Amino acid sequence: MAEIDVANVADVREGAALTVRAAGRSIVLTRVAGTLCAVENRCPHLGLPLARGRIVDGVIRCPFRGSSFDLCSGANLDWVNAVAGLPLPQWSRRIVALGREPMPLQTFVARERDGRVYLEA
Ligand code: FES
Repeated sequence: MAEIDVANVADVREGAALTVRAAGRSIVLTRVAGTLCAVENRCPHLGLPLARGRIVDGVIRCPFRGSSFDLCSGANLDWVNAVAGLPLPQWSRRIVALGREPMPLQTFVARERDGRVYLEA
């Protein structure tokens, strides 16, 4: 597995998503309580980009259908709960999810060295 130089350390900020490319993938970098975290910029529900989603306390919310993910572990915390920002009633969520079951985000190992961020990808 290759280590790829993707960003300046100073560009990765708490509560903000920095999108980088590595090994042909789009990846979101951020910090959670100072820890560098990296996840694939692709919601596992429909494969749409997550980077413009709202980030609160290390959790990113998909801007399309509201699924939420832990930005360090990639764990799914909530699955398909909104359309156009409006909450969905519980009974309709499986329909809007199109039968797809909750899935986590792919995570990547990120390291800081000499002012640069490197990803294993
Ligand atoms: S594309 Fe993210 S929840 Fe559907």
